[in-house]
Amino acid sequence: MSQYDVIVIGSGPGGYVCAIRCAQLGLKTACVEGRETLGGTCLNIGCIPSKALLHASHQLHEAEHNFAKMGLKGKSPSVDWKQMQAYKDDVIGQNTKGIEFLFKKNKIDWLKGWGSIPEAGKVKVGDEVHEAKNIIIATGSEPSALPGIEIDEKVVVTSEGALSLPKIPKKMVVIGAGVIGLELGSVYARLGAEVQVIEFLDQITPGMDGEVCKTFQRLLAKQGLSFTLGAAVQSVEATKTKAKVTYKLRKDDSEATVDADVVLVATGRKPYTDGLGLDALGVEMSERGQIKTDGHWATNVKGVYAIGDAIAGPMLAHKAEDEGMAVAEVVAGKHAHVNYDVIPGVIYTHPEVASVGQTEEALKEAGRAYKVGKFSFMGNGRAKANFAADGFVKILADKETDRILGAHIIGPMAGDLIHEICVAMEFGASAQDLALTCHAHPTYSEAVREAALACGDGPIHS
Ligand code: NAI
Repeated sequence: MSQYDVIVIGSGPGGYVCAIRCAQLGLKTACVEGRETLGGTCLNIGCIPSKALLHASHQLHEAEHNFAKMGLKGKSPSVDWKQMQAYKDDVIGQNTKGIEFLFKKNKIDWLKGWGSIPEAGKVKVGDEVHEAKNIIIATGSEPSALPGIEIDEKVVVTSEGALSLPKIPKKMVVIGAGVIGLELGSVYARLGAEVQVIEFLDQITPGMDGEVCKTFQRLLAKQGLSFTLGAAVQSVEATKTKAKVTYKLRKDDSEATVDADVVLVATGRKPYTDGLGLDALGVEMSERGQIKTDGHWATNVKGVYAIGDAIAGPMLAHKAEDEGMAVAEVVAGKHAHVNYDVIPGVIYTHPEVASVGQTEEALKEAGRAYKVGKFSFMGNGRAKANFAADGFVKILADKETDRILGAHIIGPMAGDLIHEICVAMEFGASAQDLALTCHAHPTYSEAVREAALACGDGPIHS
């Protein structure tokens, strides 16, 4: 029986980051992972592979739509799906092997297999039981299926199957206009599929800033995605090669059907805690199946902690990473904190969408006095040169103090641009602090500065 200071269960972004930080803090650490490779959903079947397909399909879009305008003439590239899959798999391999290297470098034991917790202080992997002063559950999440809809990962797929389809479908129906549906839907639309998104609510990406949602839907529609909003999917009947989706329009209860070669079910995810033995251990769970934790990620069972998608909060890799680092500090006897008010969210479509902090709708509802500074990428020289002038930056600041309360960007590199505002918010900055910071020209970042200027005396370029 081996003894550890910490055993982390799960090697996704929450788990592997946590294990590395624990080792860096001098704790004898092991990480349990049952997959063939480290990295969890994010590296193997989520964030990383989807970004490879988004990148490749965006390059195709550029070649088809913008190359000739720039004087780059000739036949547009055609899609070699097998090669694109090989490229994606290579990217996955590089990343997962990278984690394996980091584990070796930090002397972290990879306990191969699926772990369970037979009692506090013990982790069972296969037939072996290991002792650990601290156990950190970082088992992530899995797709939450719609009742009565059977997933075969061939014709009716989750995000996992959608990353490895045998061929590009002619017609794809996406159920759910959330992050997964729109990212993967836009990949296949750019690769030539007819993509129809069916969403229960009356808007796409619920919870996001309303103005961004409207612009986002318009830009995606321009790329060929069609939207059926306010429609509840009732059933999906599938054969080996086709599927029929039946939905009901909420406004008049009328039913309609649509045929598809592939149906992507992207209606949310739920915590994955199967097989851990949490019931027998007496770990408290919420009604939504999340592990309950206190402000320091401790469960009600002494020495057992939980982080990431398995607990409350946004299901985001970087939120899990932050919690992983913080809980490592906690078990090492240090102080730790995660600022849940400043967690960015990014949708990696083209253009990208990024947000942090409050939305205008939330501020209105809270009755808070605020001001809005908005700047369109149309006024940004770099964006114009790069055929990327769709979208805008919107900064929300307190009306009295000018302190930044939130920001919403739709446009080129939005997922990178947002971090300047995250840092500003962490430092309690005002919009004027951003506006007074020199921004290099010509960069997309100038649009952030202009939006900050728009919170005050006004932007220069609009
Ligand atoms: P989501 O919760 O973002 O969106 C699901 C959508 O499906 C909602 O708009 C919902 O109204 C709709 N829906 C539910 N039932 C329906 C029905 N019967 N008919 C029609 N529409 C229905 O879930 P998604 O996109 O599956 O993502 C899961 C999680 O993974 C999210 O928490 C997301 O933040 C995370 N994720 C984050 C990424 C990123 O940060 N770029 C990428 C991929 C996933």
